[in-house]
Amino acid sequence: MLAVIGGSGLSQLANLDVSHREVLRTPYGEPSGAVIFGEICGQAVAFLPRHGYGHTIPPHEVNYRANLWALSQRGVSGIISVASVGSIRADLKPGGVVIPHQIIDYTWGRKSTFHDGRDGTVTHIDFTEPYDRALRARLIAAAKVAGIAVSDVAVYAATQGPRLETAAEIDRFERDGADVVGMTGMPEAALARELALPYAAISVVANFAAGRADSREGISFESIETVLHESMGHVRTIIEELVRHGH
Ligand code: HPA
Repeated sequence: MLAVIGGSGLSQLANLDVSHREVLRTPYGEPSGAVIFGEICGQAVAFLPRHGYGHTIPPHEVNYRANLWALSQRGVSGIISVASVGSIRADLKPGGVVIPHQIIDYTWGRKSTFHDGRDGTVTHIDFTEPYDRALRARLIAAAKVAGIAVSDVAVYAATQGPRLETAAEIDRFERDGADVVGMTGMPEAALARELALPYAAISVVANFAAGRADSREGISFESIETVLHESMGHVRTIIEELVRHGH
């Protein structure tokens, strides 16, 4: 069973035929909400909205450990993370869909590991490739079959939020090699790896990042809402294709 963690603009999966919900408890506290179980095209899918059902949990307050632990306990075979991002690159325009291949983590102060040393052991994970290679390939193939253009070479910069960045911060991220910027990609990806859960991300470009293109003088929240509303349909279609054909 595949799980989808929905971000801003995707607090429900309209194409999910819901069977039931489960409120799950974890040693790390409460997940962002009840996990919804159902089917898409006859295949089992679980869904969890990262920011809660009323979009009440800001990125730095999301209980990433509880979310990942809960999905792992319910035996999901992989996780598709959906999130909105700002674009640093001129050719990645608002409304576009990105399947990032790398991450740079600028977040701080988040509970970012299950291996916190409390059990008296020190455990490291390999994170050379932060996203699961096979699951990414399946996502890319599903997008192709669905006829939706995606950019699949993109470095994701994870920022702390909830504020947006300064123009100088975006310039720095670009110098570092980042292409898109978002607030929720970490520690989520690393926690999935710690649990040995295949994890891949699909992002919708909501806006040009601070100081870039039409965000040169500021970022319009109104237009972000409109873009996300219009583009999440593509994400749903790709997920549907992925689930239906397995690729
Ligand atoms: N910065 C960080 N996170 C985001 C942005 C952004 O410009 N747009 C959507 N999520």
